Amino acid sequence: MPVTVVIGSQWGDEGKGKIVDLLSKEVDIVARYQGGANAGHTICWGDKTFVLHLVPSGIFHEGVSCVIGNGVVIDPVAVIDEIRMIKELGYQVEGRLFISHNAHLIMPYHKAVEQVRERYRDADAIGTTGRGIGPAYMDKFARTGIRVVDLLDRDVLSMKLKRAIEEKNQILRSIYGAEELNVDAIIEEYVEFDRLIDPYVIDAPQYLNAALKEGKHILAEGAQGALLDVDFGTYPYVTSSHPTVGGCCTGLGVPPTEINRIIGIVKAYCTRVGNGPFPTELLDETGELLRKTGNEFGATTGRPRRCGWLDLVALRYTSMINGFTELAITKLDVLNGLPSIQVATSYRYDGKETTRFPSEGHTLEKVTPVYETMPGWEADIRTADRFEDLPEVTQEYLQFIASTVGVDITMISTGPKREQTITGERSRVRAVR
Ligand code: IMP
Repeated sequence: MPVTVVIGSQWGDEGKGKIVDLLSKEVDIVARYQGGANAGHTICWGDKTFVLHLVPSGIFHEGVSCVIGNGVVIDPVAVIDEIRMIKELGYQVEGRLFISHNAHLIMPYHKAVEQVRERYRDADAIGTTGRGIGPAYMDKFARTGIRVVDLLDRDVLSMKLKRAIEEKNQILRSIYGAEELNVDAIIEEYVEFDRLIDPYVIDAPQYLNAALKEGKHILAEGAQGALLDVDFGTYPYVTSSHPTVGGCCTGLGVPPTEINRIIGIVKAYCTRVGNGPFPTELLDETGELLRKTGNEFGATTGRPRRCGWLDLVALRYTSMINGFTELAITKLDVLNGLPSIQVATSYRYDGKETTRFPSEGHTLEKVTPVYETMPGWEADIRTADRFEDLPEVTQEYLQFIASTVGVDITMISTGPKREQTITGERSRVRAVR
C-alpha cells in the first residue's frame, strides 16, 4: 500500500510545500489531486524561494516524476508558464511531468464569470483567489467542461469553446450586465496549446496504477486545507473541490486500499485567507505579530492572511474526516518569544460547551472558543535537532496537540529551510490516548 497522502488540516497555507518537498526524495511519483492555480506552494532552497501553483514541487527532485491528476482544474496558460520557469532553472520537465488527459481546463470565461459573481455577491463574497476555480468545477459537474484531451484536437476544441463562450456571454450580459468575451480571439489563442501541452498528456490513472503494480511509491499532494473542502469545510466559504482524503482517490484514480499514510499538516497556529467563520481569529496585536513573524501573506494573491490560535476542535474534526495516521507540525518557530500561547479545546455555543466542530457556517460564526493557556518559550528553536532539544514547554505544547487529537506527530518544522525540520524517530511525539 504505497500511497502517502499529504493533506492540509486547517484552511490551507499550512506549509505543505516544504513537507512535500522533504518527502519527495523518498518516493517515485508526486501527484497533485485537486484544486488549481489557487494554491501556491512556497519552497525555500538555500537562498532561493520558489512558488509553484500547479506543478508538484517534486519536480525539483531528479528521479521523481510528477503528475497533475484529473481532479485538478488546469489553467493552460499558467501551467505552460510554470513549465517554462522550471526549465529556465535548469530542470528536465519533459518525461517527468505528466498531465491527466481527463483534467478539466480553466478558461478566460471562468475568471470573467467569477469576477462579476464575486462583485455581485458584495458583502457575501467568498473572497476567492480569482483564478476561475469555482466556475471551472461548475462546468465540470454541469458536464459542459473542456478537458485537457480536448486541447489536442483543434476542431473539437473550437466547437466546444464556441458553445461555452456563447453561453457564458449570455450570462455575463443578461445577468450581470458585464462585457462579453471575444469568441474568435479566445479560440485563436487556445488552439495553439495543442503542441505546447501534448508532450505531457497521459492517461494518468493507468500510469499511476501501473506504477503501483511495479512497487513504486506515490506521494499524493492535496491543495488548500480540509476546512475548505466543499463538503466538509465551512460552506459556502470553501473552495470547489475536495482537499480531504477522498479527493485523492477521485482526483487521481488510485484505490483507497493503496493508501497507507495520511499525513495531516498542522500549522502551530491558524490562518485563513478569504471570508468565512474563523473562531480563534485574533484581531489584536498578537494576530498582527503572527502575520508579520509568519509572513502570512497569500502565496497566490499576496492578500494578508487572517491569523489566530491553534484550534484543536477543528483539528480533531479534520483528523476524523481524513483518518490522519500522523501529523506534521509546521511553523513552530513563529511562536518563539510569545509570553503565553492559547489553544482552543472546545467551543461554547448557546450556553453549552461542545467539542463538536459545527461546519455549518451560521453556528460556527456564533461559537466562542474555550482556551487552554500554555506558557510560551523564549529560546530560538530553529536549531533544534531532536524533540528533546526543544524547550520543555514547547515539548508540552506538541505533546498536548498529539494527545488531544489522538495522533502521533512525526515531523516538526522549526524554520523555513529544509534542514530546519525534525524528522524520523527524533521527532516522534506519541499521542497519549
Ligand atoms: P477559490 O478556491 O479561489 O474558489 O477560493 C475559495 C476560498 O478558498 C477562498 O476563501 C480562498 O481564499 C480560499 N483558498 C483557495 N486556495 C487557497 C490556498 O491555497 N490557501 C488558502 N486559501 C485558499
